[in-house]
Amino acid sequence: ILRLIAALALGYLIGSLNTAVIVGKIYGKDIRSHGSQSAGLTNTLRVLGRSAATFVLLGDILKGIIACYVGLFLDVTFYSGEAKDSLCLLTAGAGAVIGHNWPIYFRLKGGKGALTAVSVLFMADWFIALLGLVVFVIIVVLTRYVSLGTICATLGIVAISTIPVFGHSVYFNLFAFLMAVMVIFKHRKNIQRLLAGTENKLTF
Ligand code: G3P
Repeated sequence: ILRLIAALALGYLIGSLNTAVIVGKIYGKDIRSHGSQSAGLTNTLRVLGRSAATFVLLGDILKGIIACYVGLFLDVTFYSGEAKDSLCLLTAGAGAVIGHNWPIYFRLKGGKGALTAVSVLFMADWFIALLGLVVFVIIVVLTRYVSLGTICATLGIVAISTIPVFGHSVYFNLFAFLMAVMVIFKHRKNIQRLLAGTENKLTF
């Protein structure tokens, strides 16, 4: 249990390094006062452009991966080769997503956690993460709503992860479910805008 608490805490501290806020500071803008006010990749692309968004993309993926490695480091079973669905990895990853959404260094105001969650998922099961990305791309290409793509992919991942052929434990399913709850909670304003027909579309 101590290992899990450490994994959660360290994951949270790593996830709190919200790259959109940091890159925004470099550009002299608080991303949380512009666009959708979300400190994430989509809003950085919208407000600060492609170069800034590239930093956020790489930064958020990297922190998800680092958090997972910290989790694995704390996991004794990893060294005996039984690390599938490592509980420490999933806990550290969940901590990173919580940190991204409610960062301790930036007044608890962050992003929506989808990119960090997907990078953690890549570490836990790259195939399911890839399926989620496929759903995301299809929805975004068809509708140009990034938020709708994110929501559909998240729900799709929850459904896919319960299919027995993937052989995941209840911990993995719980992780996917918790990620979905957080992502949907964080997208509540997007959902209202989608229903009202006023959601921002991605422009190419
Ligand atoms: O993952 C975030 C995306 O789904 C929506 O971002 O800035 O349009 O609210 P945003």
